[in-house]
Amino acid sequence: MTATATETQRSVRTVGLARVFGEGDAAVEALKGIDLEIASGELVVVLGPSGSGKTTLCNIIGGIDQASGGTVEVAGEDISTKDPGRLSDFRRDHVGFIFQFFNLIPTLTARENVEVIIEMTGRGSKERVPSLLDAVGLGDRMDNFPAQLSGGQQQRVAVARALATDPDILFADEPTGALDLPTGRQILGLLQDLNAQGRTVIIVTHNASVAQIANRVLTLVDGRIESDETNANPAAAADVTW
Ligand SMILES: Nc1ncnc2c1ncn2[C@@H]1O[C@H](COP(=O)(O)OP(=O)(O)OP(=O)(O)O)[C@@H](O)[C@H]1O
Ligand SMILES: [Mg+2]
Repeated sequence: MTATATETQRSVRTVGLARVFGEGDAAVEALKGIDLEIASGELVVVLGPSGSGKTTLCNIIGGIDQASGGTVEVAGEDISTKDPGRLSDFRRDHVGFIFQFFNLIPTLTARENVEVIIEMTGRGSKERVPSLLDAVGLGDRMDNFPAQLSGGQQQRVAVARALATDPDILFADEPTGALDLPTGRQILGLLQDLNAQGRTVIIVTHNASVAQIANRVLTLVDGRIESDETNANPAAAADVTW
């Protein structure tokens, strides 16, 4: 298949994306028909109150969860119909995740936390791990265990880990939620730098201040997109305050 220019530049496309959790009286409609296109290289911040569907949307686009209805195309692949095995292949090949509470393995050093992803996925090379950790400012802390690192340093390890497989899209779900302001700014700065290098970055947060660094801000309310705004002059992460 020959991809058109638009197709190659498009990173995400959802049509009528719906997600229902549970059944019958207990059913929760977390997403109620999301139509969305994200171009390659965008830095998107997804805002919205607690329970509005932000995490659900990212988990489906990132192949962690699956839609109940509608279609989801990421990096040119339709992931709405993939079985769990092929979805896992898709994640390995295309996406990286960063979470609020870092999710590092406590018994492994910073370096081993990154290496284990390379071993598990068979993507990336272990030789690159020191330079990945160096790039997030942890060149001298590679042999420390998570408990020996500050929250911000642990989140940097998580960023390096997410980059180990060289993903097309980086998802960060409340990446600053457990961090103080200066440390949160540093992590946002890191995500902004990665975006400037051409990677698509999607940041989920309920912190409206974080939206200042985005070139596009999506606001979800009750499972629907309430607004979709572009920001011609994103702020530098260092200038954001909350
Ligand atoms: N596994 C699940 N089972 C049942 N309901 C769920 C599940 N996951 C999410 N939900 C429901 O779906 C809705 C959207 O949840 P989601 O986690 O996407 O919200 P969010 O915008 O990320 O909220 P927060 O800011 O609190 O993280 C909520 O009503 C939530 O209770
Ligand atoms: Mg959430």
